[in-house]
Amino acid sequence: MIPHIKSLNFIRGGRPIFLIKYFNFDVRESMDPLTIINKYAPRGSLTCEMLVEHSSMVRDKALATAESVRQLQPDLAFIKEASMLHDIGIVLVNEPRLGCAGTYPYICHGYLGRSLLEQEGYPRHALVCERHIGTGLTILDIVNQPLPLPKRDMLPRSLEEKIICYADKFFSKKVGNLSMEKSLAEVRAEMEKFGQERLKAFDELHALFSKKPSPGKGP
Ligand SMILES: [Fe+2]
Repeated sequence: MIPHIKSLNFIRGGRPIFLIKYFNFDVRESMDPLTIINKYAPRGSLTCEMLVEHSSMVRDKALATAESVRQLQPDLAFIKEASMLHDIGIVLVNEPRLGCAGTYPYICHGYLGRSLLEQEGYPRHALVCERHIGTGLTILDIVNQPLPLPKRDMLPRSLEEKIICYADKFFSKKVGNLSMEKSLAEVRAEMEKFGQERLKAFDELHALFSKKPSPGKGP
């Protein structure tokens, strides 16, 4: 049985990562996305309700998307967890309509989520947070626009990162519309607002995930 991260915090005053590494705990086994969400967005709060509903929609779409590339053997357990946590960074931004009373601009929620999940001991999940904004951001996007983000490439690289990034584009965080899936035309129109490069990147993801799996090639 793995000790809860909170109890480690209590014992060592905020150095859970150190302890986890020191004792070689497998934190992977103890992953419970809702426990992590509720640590930062209390159950019943607007932020929590929105995060859980939006993330559940993204998770289901991501799992359906993963099915379309099952011959590539996507890690379904990881996708389930990371989808639920991909937007955790919003707890640190200033977005009153989502109940978020932090200080950072909304666009920072990706890299803030990364840093938060790294502190929790989940570096692989953390990268999903940082790499899901739009269709991913290049260092040139960040420098040229300019965006208030660390200057590094934030593009989805692993299959699982691409799946979650893609699935996320079909759902907004607008309360009242959370469970409404956008049509492909709507998503493409939104991508186009950010330029032809963004649209092209989305179309490439769509092409990857809209192929029908060959019969008999699944695991
Ligand atoms: Fe999202």
